[in-house]
Amino acid sequence: MRLEDILFSQGFGTRRVCAGLIQQGHVQVNGETVLDAGQVFDLEGLRFTVQGEDWPFAAQAYLMLNKPAGTECSQKPSTWPSVYTLLPAPLRQRPQKAAVQGVQAVGRLDQDTTGLLLLTDDGKFIHKMSSPKHHVPKVYEVTTKHPITPDMVSRLLSGVVLDDDPRPVKAAACEKAGDLQLRLTLTEGKYHQVKRMLAAVGNRVEALHRSQIGGLVLNDLAPGQWRWLNEQDLALLKP
Ligand code: URA
Repeated sequence: MRLEDILFSQGFGTRRVCAGLIQQGHVQVNGETVLDAGQVFDLEGLRFTVQGEDWPFAAQAYLMLNKPAGTECSQKPSTWPSVYTLLPAPLRQRPQKAAVQGVQAVGRLDQDTTGLLLLTDDGKFIHKMSSPKHHVPKVYEVTTKHPITPDMVSRLLSGVVLDDDPRPVKAAACEKAGDLQLRLTLTEGKYHQVKRMLAAVGNRVEALHRSQIGGLVLNDLAPGQWRWLNEQDLALLKP
């Protein structure tokens, strides 16, 4: 692919802007500055540098972010800064066939929820991960207002009825991790599900953190930080 088209596909601006970056000496491939915007490169394993920053070529982008509290998972946030402001501009600007541009969050976390958020520009992946048939477990670390009783744990496991559906929703797993700490695993993603499930058993969520999706764990990614997902990471997200 021509270098100008490579940069365009990765979100570095219009073809004219990408050609300008190259012609002005801002782009290196394999450590060499390339001034010819039409020079062709093999995409397999390609890494390039734009204005001193190293980038891998990614036909589609898959990322994980440690969402900090006080951020909204919306492109047009109403009150809090958008999580998208935590990503570099090329990831937000990658061209797409659909009306939306750049990577999108796979589902949403509430403004005050922290932890693991996936983002991608692969619409099929978003659809698959969000489908109720795709039962990928999501693990939440819950801090509660009131002490957790054995009865609360057994009700969360056997199923509670929420206000928008008569069918009970169950936790796939639920362990007390402290007096006010619960580890809850869900395979669905209903609106405010954890908060509503805890309210249904007479408790209240004080803090909520998603630590794991499928076999993918947040580990030591600091709040506000993101990283690319590799093939092994993606394999961990299969149900
Ligand atoms: N459940 C909630 O209540 N909030 C979230 O952000 C995620 C799951």
